[in-house]
Amino acid sequence: MAFQRVASVSDIPPGVTKVFEVGDRAVAVCNVSGDLYAIEDVCTHDGSSFEQGELDGCEIECPRHGARFDVRDGSATELPAVVPVDTFAVRVEGDDIEVDV
Ligand code: FES
Repeated sequence: MAFQRVASVSDIPPGVTKVFEVGDRAVAVCNVSGDLYAIEDVCTHDGSSFEQGELDGCEIECPRHGARFDVRDGSATELPAVVPVDTFAVRVEGDDIEVDV
């Protein structure tokens, strides 16, 4: 595990989610009112990406069947998903967003 740069801070403004390939993992980085969180970009219900999902406060809604996850801890907060998604540590170094995958 090591922090890797995925984007510049200006690339992910508040309310936006962007997806990156980091090593062999797909990672969705979410900006919640200036705080950055990273979750695995694989919905635990049936594998959808969250890239087109709506970020509503600290929750992201899967665009496929509407499951919701708290991006802070990965917990599933709305059916049909019941299993949490993996989360990753995020840090900002200068203008770089880095994720520990
Ligand atoms: S794949 Fe995400 S809710 Fe079904």
